[in-house]
Amino acid sequence: MALITKKIKGTEDVLPKESYRWQFIENIMREEARCYGFKEIRTPVFEHTELFARGVGQTTDVVQKEMYTFDTKGGESVTLRPEGTAGAARAVLEHALDNEGLPIKASYFVSCYRYEKPQAGRLREFHQFGIEEYGTQSPVADAELICVAQSIFDRLGIGQLRLELNSIGCPECRAKYNEALREYFGQFKDRLCQTCLSRLERNPMRLLDCKSPEDKEIAKDAPKITDYLCEECEQHFTEVKSYLDAAGVEYTVNPTIVRGLDYYTKTVFEFVTDCIGAQGTVCGGGRYDGLIEELGGKHMPSLGFAMGLERLLMVMDSQGIVIPDNNQTSLYIATMGDAAKVKAFELLRSVRECGLAAETDVVGRGLRAQMKYADKIGAKYSLVLGDNELEQNCASVKNMETGEQTSLALDKSFAEKFSVLCLTDNNSFLN
Ligand code: HAM
Repeated sequence: MALITKKIKGTEDVLPKESYRWQFIENIMREEARCYGFKEIRTPVFEHTELFARGVGQTTDVVQKEMYTFDTKGGESVTLRPEGTAGAARAVLEHALDNEGLPIKASYFVSCYRYEKPQAGRLREFHQFGIEEYGTQSPVADAELICVAQSIFDRLGIGQLRLELNSIGCPECRAKYNEALREYFGQFKDRLCQTCLSRLERNPMRLLDCKSPEDKEIAKDAPKITDYLCEECEQHFTEVKSYLDAAGVEYTVNPTIVRGLDYYTKTVFEFVTDCIGAQGTVCGGGRYDGLIEELGGKHMPSLGFAMGLERLLMVMDSQGIVIPDNNQTSLYIATMGDAAKVKAFELLRSVRECGLAAETDVVGRGLRAQMKYADKIGAKYSLVLGDNELEQNCASVKNMETGEQTSLALDKSFAEKFSVLCLTDNNSFLN
């Protein structure tokens, strides 16, 4: 029978044989976030549409073209989150987390939804790890934020990533900059794409982000924000850079980085690679000092970043980084006969209680096929249980790699002795 349907374009399945790769990078992210004092926040996958319209910004591609928005049966307009920042900010406000003291530090794993044209590294459902920090205007926080991302990349063994840094200033310096941009791009009105024309008045900085080749060419000679920063923003940027220098984090200042979302102020940054094709930005973020007010809260300078898990895994693959599979089966018990099956069931339970992965046959294979299966799943040890073993209340555990056999009593001490055997072998391997 033909399948009634397949996965939706731009979405991916993560299969059991590959999920360890996700778990590995997620564990490192969780661990780093913890070391820097961030605690996980979980927010709904959909929100009221106006949260993203206001938060992410009406003139962004995300809001204008890419959101999955629909009316509920109750007549509300809701949207699948295109990113994690707006939802986290909404939750912080709704639960008045600032009453518990500042700064508020949150990390998250989210699935995101954007109706973009799928290609390598660009999906319609993708996954982000992100962190957000609320209630600090200190440049130390900007530098620390970037250090979290850098530490994660270091621990994952990822190289050849460029950190591109910029400051896009505050509303005051931006007003002057926007004027300069309007004047500059105004000369090319007959050549700009329709989207850029419509954004020229409302948000000219978006023109620097346009993907059309002709507009990109025009944008090359546009005025640079770094020439328009007010004294305070300039000072902030200088301090961020000096903290990064002190931490030994390398960066290049790239005045064309403006980011695709409207909420940013002052520091913005991206980690970019050339090794996965056109979609080479693996992480992006920055400061958003006005967002909390925009969403109805009080002034609360904040900042954050998000990194795309799919893109990170692609980078690791392209750099030949081997991800260890820690989900390996420790013990496979092959059985002959019904009594052995019952005994195996009892032994497996005790081994699993020790935190080790253990399996036996559940599809009715013969002994040879069971051993082949144990080999296929990469079991570290196997044990054959038949009438003889039951009679002697003792069986040989075989190290599948070295062939070495160890005799263990099939009594209450089995699981503990087996755990010690695993540990000893692991240690001698490490030595
Ligand atoms: P963003 O740059 O839109 O920023 O996305 C962050 C990361 O998500 C990108 O660097 C990329 O790795 C990944 N990503 C974005 N779109 C796709 C896609 N279509 N397919 C696969 N991966 C994708 C944000 O989302 C901000 N909320 C980041 C932030 C947090 N800023 C402050 N706090």
